[in-house]
Amino acid sequence: MNALRYAQCWEDADVLVAALAVRPGGTYVAIASAGDNALAMLAAGPARVIALDREPAQLAALELRVAAYRALSHEELLALVGSRPHAARRKLYARCRPLLHDAPRAYWDARPDAIRAGIGSAGRFERYLALFRTVVLPLIHSRETVNELLACDDGERARFYAERWDTPRWRLAFHLFFARSTMGALGRDPRFFAHADGPVSQRLLARIARSLRDDDAGTNPYLRWILTGAHGDDLPPALRAESYEAIRANLDRLEIRRTSLEEFVDAHDGPLIDGWNLSDVFEYVDDAEYASLLARIAAVSAPGARLAYWNMLVPRHRPEALAPFLAAREDLAAPLRARDRVPFYGDFVVEQAR
Ligand SMILES: C[S@@+](CC[C@H](N)C(=O)[O-])C[C@H]1O[C@@H](n2cnc3c(N)ncnc32)[C@H](O)[C@@H]1O
Repeated sequence: MNALRYAQCWEDADVLVAALAVRPGGTYVAIASAGDNALAMLAAGPARVIALDREPAQLAALELRVAAYRALSHEELLALVGSRPHAARRKLYARCRPLLHDAPRAYWDARPDAIRAGIGSAGRFERYLALFRTVVLPLIHSRETVNELLACDDGERARFYAERWDTPRWRLAFHLFFARSTMGALGRDPRFFAHADGPVSQRLLARIARSLRDDDAGTNPYLRWILTGAHGDDLPPALRAESYEAIRANLDRLEIRRTSLEEFVDAHDGPLIDGWNLSDVFEYVDDAEYASLLARIAAVSAPGARLAYWNMLVPRHRPEALAPFLAAREDLAAPLRARDRVPFYGDFVVEQAR
């Protein structure tokens, strides 16, 4: 089994669930990734969430989360993920282990260090962020400066960013560390950049800068993890106390499938799908494959079904030729994009089957 790429989804599930208007009785499809956003969709009580991924390690991450919801208390779940410090995560894993299928159990048995560190740190992408936090960031800003940023209130944040944070050293280190080549070598699969034009670090720096300047890093769980390696009191949706019972109660409605999205839509002959969490998968394929896949998704969508997806580096919106099948819902996407708290994306797209 390939090693895990993503131990967290790094896509804002509040925005996602609002965009899809997940409703009781509906059937939804989610790209699994690490599973947190498929689980967030479950909290709304749909009849079925089909979580699919072509990478078995991603499904192992989701299976362990599912087992953790079943076997652990809410506080223990947060400890296993790494949202909170904990000295004995392997004991928590031991309670989840009997609930795992053979392949995910073998995957996690072979990775005691990942369990010890918290399963939310266990992906290649999270290790890359950890390298930034533990090696690069201390060369730029002291722990006190990071804590001051986290404690800034709305009135002082922009000034703090301009005067204390946005130094030439910050910009240089960021450009070097988040360059396409560094990121491809250490963090994100180089194939994921295949359709991205132009320099990467400039765009990412502009997004992170906007986020650090305009958003409250202290209450933004994604920024807080990037800067401190754990969540604070504010958590991503699937990990919130109010979601825990709802997700737990609905776990039987989650179906985990190892398949590509392409194979899934081509083989699907069940009920039409009411909504799609498509992560940013369209960036990995060229224009023609994107248009073809979108058309095939529309063909197995119920009337009114919504599709939600992100663009990180490659612009993707349904081509005009698909307008008879899919409506652009910029009216829904624009306000959600404005409150997206994950600082990596250039766009959030919502489309609706006619
Ligand atoms: C699209 S990636 C995105 C992660 C993050 N947003 C980023 O851009 O770095 C999330 C997941 O999608 C899965 N994936 C990508 N393309 C897929 C496809 N065509 N079918 C099924 N899963 C796919 C990957 O294996 C991964 O687990």
